[in-house]
Amino acid sequence: MAEQRLNIGVIGLGVMGRRMLTRLNDHPRLRVTRAWDADPVACAAACAVQAGLEIAAGAESLIATPGLHGLYIATPPAAHIALSERAFDAGLAVFCEKPLSTDFTDAQRCIDRIAREGQRAAVNFALASSPGLTMLGQTFGPGGDQSLGALQAIEIELSFAAWPRAWQAGAGAWLSERAEGGFSREVLSHFIFVLQRVLGPAELLRCEVQWPADGRRAETALQAELRVAGVPVSIQGQVGGELADFNRMSWQGASGAIELGDWFGLARRRSAESGWELMGDPAQLRSRSQTEQLDQWTALVEGRPHSLPGFAEALAVQQTIESLLAAKNA
Ligand SMILES: NC(=O)c1ccc[n+]([C@@H]2O[C@H](COP(=O)([O-])OP(=O)(O)OC[C@H]3O[C@@H](n4cnc5c(N)ncnc54)[C@H](O)[C@@H]3O)[C@@H](O)[C@H]2O)c1
Repeated sequence: MAEQRLNIGVIGLGVMGRRMLTRLNDHPRLRVTRAWDADPVACAAACAVQAGLEIAAGAESLIATPGLHGLYIATPPAAHIALSERAFDAGLAVFCEKPLSTDFTDAQRCIDRIAREGQRAAVNFALASSPGLTMLGQTFGPGGDQSLGALQAIEIELSFAAWPRAWQAGAGAWLSERAEGGFSREVLSHFIFVLQRVLGPAELLRCEVQWPADGRRAETALQAELRVAGVPVSIQGQVGGELADFNRMSWQGASGAIELGDWFGLARRRSAESGWELMGDPAQLRSRSQTEQLDQWTALVEGRPHSLPGFAEALAVQQTIESLLAAKNA
């Protein structure tokens, strides 16, 4: 007998919401039944992505849709917590985009409620279900196999030809403004998630951030040093320059290393003398990670164990990001 399809409502039909619609269209268990965005233009664009998509009259009526199992929230961060709370009131499982929130008080209150009431809630970090994260945990995490020797150092490098990136250029003004946007919240957060998932909380040692003079637009460069579980972490990110968009996270052990490149790419070097070994085709690793993410989301909705980050883990990531952005600059 075919398993029951789980009905997901979507709030936020911008760049990310529409991308997720496409991914969900191919999933055997999850399907989007109704959606809503405050902007009718975004609603119309979503209907072009998914023929027959039903647009609700508003957030309340979407959340109250009979037969709905879960809510996916892909608005900018400011609305995440309030919408999550309304979904919990209606007994829905929530899958929310990162960053969880920039309001830590609201976020903590919501986390307390989730724990008290046993609500089903998770946050969408792209690398959460990736083979790269699994390999890093198995090699360098607590109880890891130590096959590359003790962890010595971690480097994160990010570079963007322009901010916002071309594929997200249609997003709202929030993405390029410092109140909610910027590459640290938007991209660095994914790597801070990986770091803290494998090793635990990060401690800030030093950070310098460059900001445009207008007092409004988001950071253009960030250089920082963290320490996690006694291991030094260096971060370098910048907008502009010669390079096309680029990201790399490298974990250096005493005898070998693991590198994540361009998100899902995964390479390992077993010794200082040996070359880099690709651990799979990057496009296939991406597709496996995204399918696994949806399978984990299904488990979340069904109340089964899953590996997605909860709201508390996402808040811990955001606390590290906000501490970087709040650092006093030279
Ligand atoms: N996990 C990932 O890999 C990933 C990638 C890109 C973006 N994101 C996250 O997804 C979220 C959305 O990003 P985006 O690029 O789609 O932005 P966007 O500006 O393209 O889309 C946001 C949409 O939300 C709508 N909106 C705003 N407030 C609303 C509200 N209160 N109720 C209903 N609709 C509302 C806007 O009209 C807009 O259409 C952000 O939190 C972003 O950080 C995550």
